[in-house]
Parts: sequence; C-alpha cells; structure tokens
Amino acid sequence: MTPAIYPGSFDPVTYGHIDVMRRALGIFGRLVVAVADNPEKDPLFTVPERLQMLRDIAGGMPGVEVDSFSGLLVEYARRRGASVIVRGLRALSDFEYEFQMALTNRKICGDLETVFLMTSEGYSYLSSRAIKEIALLGGDVSAFVPTVVAEMLSARGQARGR
Ligand code: PNS
Repeated sequence: MTPAIYPGSFDPVTYGHIDVMRRALGIFGRLVVAVADNPEKDPLFTVPERLQMLRDIAGGMPGVEVDSFSGLLVEYARRRGASVIVRGLRALSDFEYEFQMALTNRKICGDLETVFLMTSEGYSYLSSRAIKEIALLGGDVSAFVPTVVAEMLSARGQARGR
C-alpha cells in the first residue's frame, strides 16, 4: 500500500491538523505527514522542532509516518511513491489557494491527485497564524493545540521576553 502524503508547514501543529490526519488515516491506511522546509515563510519553529511535535502526536497513531522535505512537493511525492496528496479545507476562503496549488501540482505531475478533507466544524476557524499570535502575546492556547505544542509555544514566548 503506498502512503498518502499530508504536506504542510505545521508551524505549529493544531487540533485541526490532527483531525485531518485521523480522517486521512481512516481512508488511506498509511499517511506520511510531511513538514515543508520553507524558510521563506519565516517559520516560528525549525523543521526539527516541527518534526518533534508531530512525532510526539503521531506516536499514538499507527500508520502515520512523520518526515520533512524541501523543494517541490510533487518531486517528494514521486520519491515516496505516493499518488495522493491530502489537504484540509476549513472554509471557502481556503479554496482558491488550494485549488491553484492542486491544479498546478497536477499539471507538473499528472499522476498526482489532491484529495481535500473537510475539517470538523469545531476546528474550521483554527489557524496556526492566530494561535502563534495568541501564544506569543501570552494568551492561553490549550483549547487549540496539544500540550506538547502549547509548551513549545510558551517556551518560545518566554525566550522572546513575554
Ligand atoms: O501549511 P501550508 O503552509 O499551507 O502548506 C503549503 C505547502 C507546504 C503544502 C506548499 O507551500 C508546498 O507544497 N510547498 C513545497 C514547494 C512546492 O511544491 N511549491 C509548489 C506548489 S504549487
């Protein structure tokens, strides 16, 4: 069984991402959660830190592998022998960006399909960007992220003098 790839920045991982991981695992049986090494996005967490939080979370999810990649997603998917990319959709506002990305990826790699999974309504408003802002301003993010992530956010906030 070839795995499906769930790529993203995961900066940081939220309950919304975990919801998509569970749903994708239920459909595909094997899932590679792939952290994009995207320094141009100026991430708060390094790739090793994001891998650490995902491995902690995926430890309880048999069938999930955590990995990172740099360069083109389609090349990574090809190397992994995957033919399905999984992306979560929260709201209509995600659609245009996701639609562009899926069609571009399919144009440069015709074998690759993108499958969109709707997050639970309870997570549809969650964004890594908002969670980072709340945490770095000293707010409580425990409703949005697992404890391991909340602790890493808190440590990062303290290191920045909050
Ligand atoms: O969580 P994000 O930031 O929305 O994830 C975006 C991601 C990492 C999936 C996307 O930026 C990506 O695939 N980057 C790898 C480089 C690439 O293949 N770019 C062309 C996309 S059309």
